Amino acid sequence: MSVRVAIVYYSATGSLQAMAERLEQAAAGTGAEVRRRHVREIAPRAAIESRREWAEHVAAMADEPVAEPADIDWADVVLLGSPTRFGNVTSQFQQFIDQLGPLWGEGKLADKVYAGFTSSQTAHGGQETTLLSIYRMVAHFGGLVVAPGYTDPLKFADGNPYGVSHASGANNDAPLGEKELAALDHLATRAIDIATRLAA
Ligand SMILES: Cc1cc2nc3c(=O)[nH]c(=O)nc-3n(C[C@H](O)[C@H](O)[C@H](O)COP(=O)(O)O)c2cc1C
Repeated sequence: MSVRVAIVYYSATGSLQAMAERLEQAAAGTGAEVRRRHVREIAPRAAIESRREWAEHVAAMADEPVAEPADIDWADVVLLGSPTRFGNVTSQFQQFIDQLGPLWGEGKLADKVYAGFTSSQTAHGGQETTLLSIYRMVAHFGGLVVAPGYTDPLKFADGNPYGVSHASGANNDAPLGEKELAALDHLATRAIDIATRLAA
């Protein structure tokens, strides 16, 4: 049986979207079944429309499936992503996590492989704290955090052993570079490899 991978993330203006799409490509390349699901937007309309790029992203995502708790239940590997908001995950991402109580109560969040990805304006703007916020919740799930560490030489290039992170720039217009793309591929393939070995 192929490994089931759920990529669950929030993106307001596209950085996490690009990261999630790369993870999807890398995971699918291993033969895994993949569900890429963005977290439902819950911000007030006026807030969304106050930023053109945010409103455009919401419109572009209108027909894409949103994440449901059932997607986590389905998966063997869960890749969780949120932009940094003041060093933490977004409220939209947290709102999704807060819907997982029933699955948690049934023990259905446990024993899966989890890894995180994030993006912030600046490299020291809270990427590691955001990833640790994600992993703190995974600890409550009884999940298995498969952080990338420095398990491949390419991790010395992107430099984040906690997960994968991207500095998206002041106008959120810095594209993913080769080192981030390689780190995203590594995050996905390593999580799938560990899940495959656990299943065996
Ligand atoms: C309310 C708010 C808070 C933010 N807080 C931080 C922060 O603490 N550190 C940082 O570097 N960037 C911060 N950012 C910038 C975003 O994390 C960054 O633009 C991110 O790449 C956006 O991802 P997205 O395009 O997927 O929405 C913040 C942005 C907003 C709107």
